[in-house]
Amino acid sequence: MAGYLPPELIDQIRDSNDIVDLISEYVPLKKRGKNFVGLCPFHSEKDPSFNVSPDKQTFYCFGCGEGGNVFSFLMKHEKLSFPEAVKLLAKRANIPLPKESFDKKREEQLDKLYYANQVANQYFLKNLYREVPGAKARRYLKRRGFDAETLKLFSIGYAPPEWEGLINHARMKGIEPKILSQAGLTVPRTEASGFYDRFRDRITFPIFNLSGKIVGFGGRVLNDKDEPKYLNSPETPIYQKGKLLYGLNLSKDEVRKKRSAILVEGYIDLISLYQAGIRNVVASSGTAFTQSQARLLSRYAEKIFLFFDADSAGQSATFRSVDLLFSEGLEVLVVSLEQGGDPDSFVRESGPEAVRERIKNAKPYIDFRYESLEQDFGQLSITEQEMVLSDLAETAGKITEEIRKSLFIKKIAQRFKVDEGIIFKLVSKTSKKISGGVKTIPPPITSSGEEKVERGILRILMEDGRLVKKIAGGLSTEDFSTAEHREIFQLILAGGRVSPANLLNRTDNEKTKELIVQIANIDLGSAELFAQLKDHLAALHRLKKNRRMKELKEEIQRSLQIGDRETADRLTKEFEKLKKA
Ligand code: CTP
Ligand code: MN
Repeated sequence: MAGYLPPELIDQIRDSNDIVDLISEYVPLKKRGKNFVGLCPFHSEKDPSFNVSPDKQTFYCFGCGEGGNVFSFLMKHEKLSFPEAVKLLAKRANIPLPKESFDKKREEQLDKLYYANQVANQYFLKNLYREVPGAKARRYLKRRGFDAETLKLFSIGYAPPEWEGLINHARMKGIEPKILSQAGLTVPRTEASGFYDRFRDRITFPIFNLSGKIVGFGGRVLNDKDEPKYLNSPETPIYQKGKLLYGLNLSKDEVRKKRSAILVEGYIDLISLYQAGIRNVVASSGTAFTQSQARLLSRYAEKIFLFFDADSAGQSATFRSVDLLFSEGLEVLVVSLEQGGDPDSFVRESGPEAVRERIKNAKPYIDFRYESLEQDFGQLSITEQEMVLSDLAETAGKITEEIRKSLFIKKIAQRFKVDEGIIFKLVSKTSKKISGGVKTIPPPITSSGEEKVERGILRILMEDGRLVKKIAGGLSTEDFSTAEHREIFQLILAGGRVSPANLLNRTDNEKTKELIVQIANIDLGSAELFAQLKDHLAALHRLKKNRRMKELKEEIQRSLQIGDRETADRLTKEFEKLKKA
């Protein structure tokens, strides 16, 4: 959507949202000098090193290096994409966004799919409450312990044992067969043309997206002997399984309030807990837990309680999801259950208080790993010990926040009674192996003297872009020693506003963005800007000259060593010329 928004509109949206106002909604800020400071929301700290500059309309944390403009703040803090951030800020500033006809068409298409699901749900509900065939389904649900209010809240229904029941119902509502099939509600016949109902003789659990629209269904058999136990809607344009969490539409406020979520595996687990009054629950239904789901959770919660079946499937589900959760900055605790139990049976047998007690005693992931070993860690063979530790080190490597990562490593060392250095080594070993996809905090930029001076120059030009013209010829793109510096210089040369916030919008290169923010936070001297710029340029040329002379000297010596007089002579001439200049 924002892909084709004109840049001026993006500028307008940015300029209409003051960064201090915006960030204050998330982080308490105090005025200090020209800027505002607060505790960084991107890493944990005791002393505020998070700076927001009203002049530059940027933020920057001296502790962890995060920084950017209003868009990047929302992207990082709320885990939004750029278009989502633009949309949100446009809304915040009451700026209407144009809709392209292409978008409208697609939206109409999607609306048809939502509508098909809604009509299907009405049909399933109607059937549940009909004497025939609903009675046995209602009996089943009663046996599972669901009360009327819960059934209504979760919109639980019943798909009757008919092949074309939904198809006929939908036809009456004016829904084309093609749409039903696109919504995954019907299945094409293989022997003949046409379709049949996907859900037959099953309890239906509608799956809601965050805006409360039905995007698909899970269907459970009434008789545990039937196969498969659950049938789910396929992926459709409105249902991307990995991006959605079952129940979050209902639980999100409670999750946000508690800053924690209980993650369960199944529809029934979630519904049972919710009915028992434990409402910060979500489920990853129909798929293995995904990175997108972890990211989604991190928008609402800080802590995740894994509440899975006590069987080995539950354990492996635990192991699969933890790295994803840690990599989104979430804290992971594991709730224990007796062998054979699941959250649904536990809450029904022991009641909500017992669940709360278990949650209170949930084990931090490291403790859980320690205690779930089949043997005492010390009794394991060296190879097995190493495997356990590298596995934990791999998890540690996923933690993006540095302080948290070191605390995690320290805790592994304490728990398993091994030297902290070993874990650090394992972490750097495993994170090298898996580097690439995983985002880590960039190391502070180490720079040569030249790079430092170049950044000083860029800082001054960001203050007043017109100075570029005044030094025409005195500086060219090639004078900069890194690709990012050259890119920033080009952005400034291109004209237009040179505020950091504006420059940030004009590049997609993450490294360049980081640098823009860092450079914007360099303090300017008190002298007149142009004078400062001239000093910097002189310094840059001096440094370049010294470096070149040093290089020449080395090359001359090397040429002499291998008896290449010709090159040595040529380089010597260049050296002399440079020295005089
Ligand atoms: N699941 C699925 N397809 C299956 C089995 C399970 O999609 N064939 C998903 C469902 O989302 C289900 C979850 O995995 O809710 C957990 O499965 P399971 O523990 O077997 O089911 P429960 O939710 O415990 O359901 P019940 O208590 O009714 O057996
Ligand atoms: Mn169950």
